Amino acid sequence: MDMFVVRGGRRLRGRVRVSGSKNAALPIMASAILADGPNVLHGVPELVDVTTLGQLLSALGVEVTRQPAPVSATDNLPPADPEMQAPDPVDPSGEASVLYPFGLGQPAEDQPGSDFLAPPAPLRLEVQSTGPCVAEYDLVRRMRAGICVLGPLLARRGRACVSLPGGCNIGDRPVDLHLKGLRALGAELRVERGYIIAKAKRLRGARIYLGGAFGSTVTGTCNVMAAATLAEGTTTIEAAACEPEVVDLGTFLNAMGAKITGLGTPFLSIEGVERLSGTEHTIIPDRIEAATLMIASAITRGDVVLDNVCLEHMTAVAEKLAEIGVTLETVGRTARVTVRDELRVADCIMLPYPGVPTDTQAQLMALLAVIPGISIVTDKVFPDRFLHAAELVRMGAQIRREGPSAIVSGVSELSGASVMASDLRASAALVLAALAARGESVVRRIYHLDRGYDRLALKLNDLGAGIVRATDSPEAMPASLAIGAADLWPADEGSHELRGPNWLRARERLRIHQPEVE
Ligand code: EPU
Repeated sequence: MDMFVVRGGRRLRGRVRVSGSKNAALPIMASAILADGPNVLHGVPELVDVTTLGQLLSALGVEVTRQPAPVSATDNLPPADPEMQAPDPVDPSGEASVLYPFGLGQPAEDQPGSDFLAPPAPLRLEVQSTGPCVAEYDLVRRMRAGICVLGPLLARRGRACVSLPGGCNIGDRPVDLHLKGLRALGAELRVERGYIIAKAKRLRGARIYLGGAFGSTVTGTCNVMAAATLAEGTTTIEAAACEPEVVDLGTFLNAMGAKITGLGTPFLSIEGVERLSGTEHTIIPDRIEAATLMIASAITRGDVVLDNVCLEHMTAVAEKLAEIGVTLETVGRTARVTVRDELRVADCIMLPYPGVPTDTQAQLMALLAVIPGISIVTDKVFPDRFLHAAELVRMGAQIRREGPSAIVSGVSELSGASVMASDLRASAALVLAALAARGESVVRRIYHLDRGYDRLALKLNDLGAGIVRATDSPEAMPASLAIGAADLWPADEGSHELRGPNWLRARERLRIHQPEVE
């Protein structure tokens, strides 16, 4: 298992490109099952969930290949002029300076140096066989979005056997609404041996209410909407999820020949068609990665320009960051993130779109943890999604859980520590906290991060962070995190003579380690 060793206290500076959205790419890839003919997807991020879904789709008879990158404008650019580059991203003077000689508004392609991590090669998906219908537990348990093959399989192949994903560290994640929607379309479904086993001759359009106790369901809406595209007649979904990722799937399906209206609203209308053909589509930018990078800039009091940001998808987050005191200057798909004044505490409530997304809760909590004062963070989507709070406390944060909320009493500084990632966004929050902390930190179990962020450590390092990936082993632990007597009671606290407080401390240690001494 790998871990990150993060050297804290460096201001991030420079320019970075946001990747395509994971949560848009996954249901879109799954919907390739519906098509007669190849689909070509641009901007699919390079991350483990994409690879896992690729394996699942291969097992379901879909050929998945990354095509060689097309020749782009950047390929013909002369090497970057060092005079035009941003200075060393780690600014030893600590003073802000103008780093962006190309201007905020220019597209990334025109900027030497900014093609580090150029967009990935397009992904091509083509159904080779419509026979296989089983999505095995071994793949679905690794990536819950595997459930997104259920609707497409049922609609196109009339049969599906998809593993229930199982437990999750961010709270209960039932799929009852997925099943309710597909049943309403006429599917016969049962759960047996841990699998959803479903069949339907041809799905029939229906009126479906998809609201649940915590709002609508993102992947549930994707599943039912995708299935309804090939149903007989018209389906209306009420309380549909409005997330941009759902809209992106709808846009993709429409490009394949589906007839969906109402995208981005809670009311979807889907007129069933006989067949869908392959198409070409570009995945929307990842709003959660963008928010994570914005918070990385803010928490290090940095100066970072993000390319490929879709700010229309991020109004609530942008407003929250502005309330906290982060300055966002935007031109087109580019945003510069700086901190010019003291940051302020803020209460945050995570809600379905267009609210502040639950997927930014942990990262915002890391930021609020280092802003003195009280902030209250409430997650209305996943009210148990707080495992990161206890790890932040290990770094010196003061956070108390109260039901679906966490009370954060910001401290002026965190101290580096060894912490354990529990899920994707929690991992990102711990990395952010480590960037801001004094000294070195170790973030363990970063396989969570690999699942959903496209080369985050590389991007952060390019901005001046000090992150080293290492195999998790005692030898790789930084010496600075070892606890030794000298660190605990440094010389500047007084002499080592066993008098006064030193004597009391030493006696205390002896009690702990050698209880028989007294
Ligand atoms: N819910 C139900 N019944 C259902 C489905 C959901 O009660 O059948 C509840 C859930 O328990 C939760 C709420 O509804 O309280 C919302 O869950 P939703 O179904 O919308 O979540 P999801 O579709 O499983 C997607 C993202 C998550 C993101 C949530 C909420 C993907 C692949 N995953 O999950 O992303 O947190 O929507 O926006 O799109 C992440 O990227 O780190 C991540 C967890």
